[in-house]
Amino acid sequence: EVKNMKWKTAIITVSDSGFQGTREDKSGPMIRKLLEEAGGYEIIQEIIVPDDQEKLEEALRTCADTMGADLILTTGGTGFSMRDRTPEATMNVATRNAPGIAEAMRALSLKVTPRAMLSRGASVIRNETLIVNLPGSPKAVKECLEFILSSLPHGLGILKGLDGECGGTAS
Ligand code: MTE
Repeated sequence: EVKNMKWKTAIITVSDSGFQGTREDKSGPMIRKLLEEAGGYEIIQEIIVPDDQEKLEEALRTCADTMGADLILTTGGTGFSMRDRTPEATMNVATRNAPGIAEAMRALSLKVTPRAMLSRGASVIRNETLIVNLPGSPKAVKECLEFILSSLPHGLGILKGLDGECGGTAS
């Protein structure tokens, strides 16, 4: 793993009520807190967008292409409500699939709650940016991020061509 590397990270909260200001966003700040505790991440953007597929796609493209984010973490909009379009927006801007991260979050979350099966969250790559959809609640954000954080730096290192082969032991 590359040492002293700070992954440029954008945090996008997808929420109509958060965007309108009728509900305080606790999930975006939860992501920030967990990344700061983990270390190795530079948060370059924190925004709230409504549950609007086109606006989310635009935000994802801007963070990836214009701002050069290595990692984009979204929270919210992964459920079954008709307004929930986060996975569709994410897949629309993808250049390659990276389903293992979403699979791991669901598999491990099922040990916490059977409702984990209700998150449709995706994980994909757009060029050299990794995009991961987290569910909307701060509790779900904390659980899911804790499951995946230890593997993200190696994945990002490979994506950016900075990490070598995966010959070493898993950690
Ligand atoms: N995953 C974890 N780890 N913990 C949770 O509490 N909640 C689930 C699921 N994933 C949950 C979870 C519930 S109740 C729903 S409806 C879906 O995520 C979708 O959430 P979202 O629509 O807020 O994105």
